[in-house]
Amino acid sequence: LDLSSEDSIVHLSLPSGSATADVLLFGATVISFKTGQKERLFLSSACPLDGSSAVRGGIPLIFPVFGPASDHKDNHGLEKVPRHGIARTAMWKLRSEVGAKEDGKDDSGEEQVTASFALSSKDVKGIAGFYQWPFELEYDVTLTSTTLTTSLHITHVASSSSSSSSSAEPMRFQTLQHTYLHVPSSLSASISGLQGQSYLDKTDSAATKTLQSDPIVLNGKESDAVFLGPAPPAVDVAYGGGEGGVRVKRSPNCPNTTVWNPAEEKANGMKDLHEGGWKEFVCVEPGTVVGFEELVAGKTFTATQTLEAF
Ligand code: BG6
Repeated sequence: LDLSSEDSIVHLSLPSGSATADVLLFGATVISFKTGQKERLFLSSACPLDGSSAVRGGIPLIFPVFGPASDHKDNHGLEKVPRHGIARTAMWKLRSEVGAKEDGKDDSGEEQVTASFALSSKDVKGIAGFYQWPFELEYDVTLTSTTLTTSLHITHVASSSSSSSSSAEPMRFQTLQHTYLHVPSSLSASISGLQGQSYLDKTDSAATKTLQSDPIVLNGKESDAVFLGPAPPAVDVAYGGGEGGVRVKRSPNCPNTTVWNPAEEKANGMKDLHEGGWKEFVCVEPGTVVGFEELVAGKTFTATQTLEAF
């Protein structure tokens, strides 16, 4: 696997050049989203990008489980699935050539370009040993001059033999887009839009708390919080100093939001994070990760995130 090869990375660019995005086939991981020359995503320079481990940055796709095995004990064998699932470490296929409409504009006249990726459970090595349901994933990445929309379509494939237990039983999964937003400083960036929501504080034995103050400003403190929902219309990450930021929107079927930053002590133990890297991002991660979705055979679940630069 040579991730430096041009074949393993898909570049999206608007005809005017006003925005660009890069997607690795490894994990279908978006690793760059630029508007007006400004990078909106964080990518660790200490991360190998050789397919040996998930990317520390960009938008790793979490499916079919969120978190470690210990979170999924006695649950349909789901404790056997690798931490944060397999989508982020599988090699995906490019489904379509990067396709803008002929004039590179959508129906409203705005420039846009889309690339689509696919992953089938059939192509995941050894999956029979840890996940019983057959699936097809399709992932559309759409760029406009100010937005990046990422849509993950999850289909529970009907098995050819209808008596097969994997078809009879709904497919159980969690999914989340693990978005690393680049910020000038994670200490002073402000995260707003989650006020009043309950959350599981994973830095405090997953105690349930309620967010009283808005915005969240981490000020160098670790955060590992799973907000329970409902899906907020937007979570804004503002850079501070009038410098703008990024608005995170999502489909209503993604009620949960993880807000994660490891802070200094934990970051020092992470080999794939460059020195001081924790100060350069906050993760705002929309998904459905509290309990499991159940999808009957033949049906598709679509989880969408839109990042909007402001
Ligand atoms: C977050 C989790 O979403 O991902 C954290 O809430 C976890 O608990 C973090 O540490 C990073 O996970 P990983 O597997 O990419 O190191």
